Amino acid sequence: MGALSDTLSVPVLGVFISGRGSNFQAIHQAIQSGVLSARIGLVISDRDADGLVYANANNLPCVVCHRSDFSTQAEHDAAMLEQCKRAQVNWIVLAGYMRILSAGFLAKYPDKVLNIHPSLLPKFKGLYPQRQALAAGESESGCTVHYVIPEVDSGSIILQHRVPIYDGDTEAQLSARILEEEHKAYVAALKIVLGDDE
Ligand code: GRF
Repeated sequence: MGALSDTLSVPVLGVFISGRGSNFQAIHQAIQSGVLSARIGLVISDRDADGLVYANANNLPCVVCHRSDFSTQAEHDAAMLEQCKRAQVNWIVLAGYMRILSAGFLAKYPDKVLNIHPSLLPKFKGLYPQRQALAAGESESGCTVHYVIPEVDSGSIILQHRVPIYDGDTEAQLSARILEEEHKAYVAALKIVLGDDE
């Protein structure tokens, strides 16, 4: 027993990305350093995302499912679902994935799909939440890790990390401050849901 059985028994994550994949990298590094007990079984992207370079460099299985290769969202989701099943994925981790998963997809992974959003939900759902927070004159913002339900950015909250907003902050400055917290928050949230936080 030992290393092989340990590897086989840990939760298998399917990480969905669309862009640079810094949250995905933070999760992978937490696994590599022993902070998080899990395995990334698959990285799925809906485009030729920058994060795939890291996935390939680290020998992580990845697939690109371009939306344009499928006639309907249902077919696109079904293809991704099939990939997840094949990779024996237990948990879906949305990390900057810029599409909405269908209710049909979510029903196949009930309470097993997580997302991170760069605002203190329920404030500032949807696109450009950092811009929305600045426009609203907030004095703090942050990030939220939550379960995914069909209504966008609305599922139960697992945890939030807060950051201050300073006078004169630009959207880029605030985004960078929040992103630093995102990387910690996602790992902490995964430890909670995977029962790895005792
Ligand atoms: C993050 O700000 C995340 O909260 C949002 O999209 C961004 C993705 O960044 N959903 P990255 O691809 O993880 O670097």
